[in-house]
Amino acid sequence: LTSSLNVCYIGAGYVGGTSSAVMAYKCPEEKVTVTVCDIDKKKIDAWNSNNLPIYEPGLEDIVKKQRGKNLFFTTDLNSAINAADIIFISVGTPTKQRGFGAGEAAELKYVENATRKIAQISRNSKIIVEKSTVPCRTAEHIRTILNTNKNSQIKNNISNYTTNHYIKNNNNSIINTNYCNISNNFNINNNINNTPENSNTYCINNLISNESNIPHERINNHPFNNININKTSDDVNINNDDYTNLIDSLSLSNNDSTLTDIDSCSESNTCFQSQDQELKELNKQISDDEVDIKIKKNDDKLKNEKSLIHFEILSNPEFLSEGTAINDLLYPDRVLIGGEPTKEGKKAQNILYQLYSYWIPKKKIITMGLWSTELSKLAANALLAQRISSINALSALCEEVGADIQEISYACGLDSRIGSKFLNASVGFGGSCFKKDILNLVYLSNAFKLPEVAEYWKQVIIMNEYRKSKFIKNIFTKLFCTISGKSIAVFGFSFKKDTKDTRESAAITVVISLLQEGAIVKLYDPKVTKDQILFDIKENSQPQEINENISNIIICNSAYDAAYNSDAIVICTEWDEFKSLDYKNIHNNMNKPAHIFDGRLILNHQELKKIGFNVEAIGKKI
Ligand code: NAD
Ligand code: UDX
Repeated sequence: LTSSLNVCYIGAGYVGGTSSAVMAYKCPEEKVTVTVCDIDKKKIDAWNSNNLPIYEPGLEDIVKKQRGKNLFFTTDLNSAINAADIIFISVGTPTKQRGFGAGEAAELKYVENATRKIAQISRNSKIIVEKSTVPCRTAEHIRTILNTNKNSQIKNNISNYTTNHYIKNNNNSIINTNYCNISNNFNINNNINNTPENSNTYCINNLISNESNIPHERINNHPFNNININKTSDDVNINNDDYTNLIDSLSLSNNDSTLTDIDSCSESNTCFQSQDQELKELNKQISDDEVDIKIKKNDDKLKNEKSLIHFEILSNPEFLSEGTAINDLLYPDRVLIGGEPTKEGKKAQNILYQLYSYWIPKKKIITMGLWSTELSKLAANALLAQRISSINALSALCEEVGADIQEISYACGLDSRIGSKFLNASVGFGGSCFKKDILNLVYLSNAFKLPEVAEYWKQVIIMNEYRKSKFIKNIFTKLFCTISGKSIAVFGFSFKKDTKDTRESAAITVVISLLQEGAIVKLYDPKVTKDQILFDIKENSQPQEINENISNIIICNSAYDAAYNSDAIVICTEWDEFKSLDYKNIHNNMNKPAHIFDGRLILNHQELKKIGFNVEAIGKKI
């Protein structure tokens, strides 16, 4: 990259948080600054603390190394958006819960909100990157929202000024309402907390400055005094024309002794920066008690600045997997950059290409069309999930015919056309992506009147549900068809190992089913917090069973505690520590006969049998 770049991520979740950290880590600090913003203050506070909001091996080291250098986490979306050359939209796109397409279509309101915020705030051209997983052609909607919002401001014939307001109060502090962008939205980017909703009020109030005895009089004597400004209330009503008059009249007032152009009392022009440090400098330089206001009226060129803004939309889906996110981001199989086949589109693709080239081999960075890139993401997840459902369908057959699914996976995986990865039979796939992205594909197929295609992909989810229920039914049968009052130890609650994410975890379905049968569930997970477990149980229980379910679940501090005095162990997540437990000791402390149900095929079943366990596992007869 020839010039330095400000990169902004909107959404500090799994994807925004991890991919931004790796970008900051891999790009030269002096060239690339990455700011990650989120509306969730708790999350941002956590990113700025020693207790990060997500767990990923290797993440903490990288964040600690870059934070405060070229990696920043903030809730100040306005500043981050304004400063950005490139904005990655990495907000969630969960399955819609209500309305059209409920249960299948992606909920795009977070993407739309982020897009509208960009349109509202931006004062210069930017590259907007879809990082979130979105349905095909979402980029078109993003472009429309950006362009129509931008244009509506011009159509309304709003004068655009950039003003620099420095108001000195009696208490000698300076309030900076720098970059008060006088437009429809009155965007103010200042160093005092404000929201776009109240920025109009805020700006006017500061101009009037209740704390000073001078401006009120001063303002009252000016031609704009017919403007409806309620000085005592927070509700300042002022329309755009009035505001323009207000600004005009103030800018004419420089020769008035009470309103002094700040340049005349300060030797430094650095006062036009909004940095705290520079404001402190300014505080020192100005000693009089008057309110100083600098209003800089822009020339015609700036008035039309909105019309010069250009947004170029790129699609750059993320393929990381949780638990291995840092490694996946450092060494991805490929990076897709979709863009328009126009001059501007290609230029934007090239900038992103150069950014990724800092750490990714060029041959792995692929540029293609926008719609192909968007669909590639849904396609990849559908194909991956389909492999798991395929092997899980075979695992059900293995349980009946006496074949061993691990042998089948091995045999099939040796065929180089099939390959060995993603052929592990399990209690069922979970995670925030597979189910939602396939449902999204199903919705898309139906929307384009392709019901057969929709049904085909739907079957992947149906098979996943079947795999969970067959596993649960087997537990019930092997425990003599009654679980009521029995203690069942459940090992693992996250949807896979090395993450504390529980979204769509198969463990949730298993635990709820056991509780519905009247079991006492003793649950242990090395990373998932008690609060999260209880939240998931509540969220997934019927309203009338919440209290009973919660009172019948015990969260344990170790696998040994969970298994103590239990009738059965159910492995739901493949955490490594479950492989090396002292199962002899565990067996001694369990009710007999002691059962173990391996939903992840991680244990040595013959050894367990020798110890005395009744062993059941996915896809085989022990
Ligand atoms: P997440 O729920 O962990 O994070 C999303 C964040 O966006 C939240 O912190 C939320 O507060 C924030 N947000 C929502 N609206 C906002 C707004 N208007 N302004 C600022 N912040 C806002 O989600 P995630 O798991 O990181 O997924 C993000 C996207 O990436 C989704 O589309 C998902 O499908 C995709 N994806 C996820 C994974 C994964 O493994 N989790 C992998 C690849 C792609
Ligand atoms: C997935 C995709 O892999 C990733 O490319 C995309 O960006 C996001 O969605 P993730 O959901 O984080 O990633 O984890 P993944 O490793 O794919 O596992 C998903 C689920 O499938 C887990 O519950 C996992 O245990 C299960 N799984 C995976 C199997 O049951 N068998 C397998 O062989 C592989």
